[in-house]
Amino acid sequence: MDTNNARYQKQLNQVLRHLYINPLEKCNLRCKICYTKKTDPILTQKQILDFIDRYQNEYDLQTITFCGGEVFALKYYTDLLNILNSRGIFTQTITNGTIDHLDKIVLPNLNNLIVSIDGLAEYHDSNRGAGNFHKSMHFLKKAHKLNLHTEIFSIVTKQNMDQIDIFENYMRQELGKVSITYHPRKPPSYLAHHPISNIEGEISGFDYLTDSELVQIMQTRNTFPPKELGCYQISLASTGIVYGCCEGFRPIGNIGDPIEKLVYSLRNRIGGPCLGCSQTEFMCGIKHIINKMN
Ligand SMILES: C[S@@+](CC[C@H](N)C(=O)[O-])C[C@H]1O[C@@H](n2cnc3c(N)ncnc32)[C@H](O)[C@@H]1O
Ligand code: SF4
Ligand code: SF4
Repeated sequence: MDTNNARYQKQLNQVLRHLYINPLEKCNLRCKICYTKKTDPILTQKQILDFIDRYQNEYDLQTITFCGGEVFALKYYTDLLNILNSRGIFTQTITNGTIDHLDKIVLPNLNNLIVSIDGLAEYHDSNRGAGNFHKSMHFLKKAHKLNLHTEIFSIVTKQNMDQIDIFENYMRQELGKVSITYHPRKPPSYLAHHPISNIEGEISGFDYLTDSELVQIMQTRNTFPPKELGCYQISLASTGIVYGCCEGFRPIGNIGDPIEKLVYSLRNRIGGPCLGCSQTEFMCGIKHIINKMN
């Protein structure tokens, strides 16, 4: 990291209050355009809690985001949330919203459920399987009733890009005010360079966005990666390898490493435009797009 760059430094200070943990890659669904491999390793609850304990000894940990695979498929998952919430940690769960254990969550106000909805029913189910739109909408509505926070992640392809306004109106009608972050379908330039998360899946009916469509969506909506980047963080994967962001493939260390060593490696990785990236040679395959926008 360029130690003179005050913007990176400020962003890193925020980022260090937030961990990302991916306990498994296994999933109950087989979405047609999912880019992740469904590999075997699964972190135990003890491995996760030991890592968090050591992290809390060094940093003011406020939030943990869990992703997978599908974390609600883990037997221990709601117990883990309850333990972390009882310590005052805010937990976020990225989920497909088809496995409902919501009644087991004890402290709803310390939870944000980020549910993946790719568009209206027909389109969503064409990727995720028949009946899953209904299940995930029911999950979101039940979460509201139970006073959990909710958000939506939505994959954008050529086919649903011009439906976004209709989609947003529908979601507002059904759920009230809700934040939606759009994930442009991982482009071929991402898949060609990521050694693990590189599944191409089905193309017909889910075409990649062109560069100009990518620029347009990044400029007009909340997206991941965000147009100003800064999306690095300590990210523990199901293998026990620690990366510099949720899309990482160049390790910064391992689950057993001293936390200071992990943070030192992350700090040394940060570079590039805007608020920076921890894999500047990769930048999620959108380096040329970010350069166009800035
Ligand atoms: C890999 S999933 C894991 C969490 C959970 N199973 C779910 O579907 O929300 C994490 C996020 O990646 C998104 N995603 C899956 N395939 C994608 C693709 N090809 N391009 C962009 N985002 C994708 C999902 O919609 C989800 O929001
Ligand atoms: S997008 Fe999520 S729900 Fe769909 S297969 Fe991938 S991990 Fe599973
Ligand atoms: S590779 Fe860079 S742009 Fe992509 S998620 Fe990681 S930090 Fe963000």
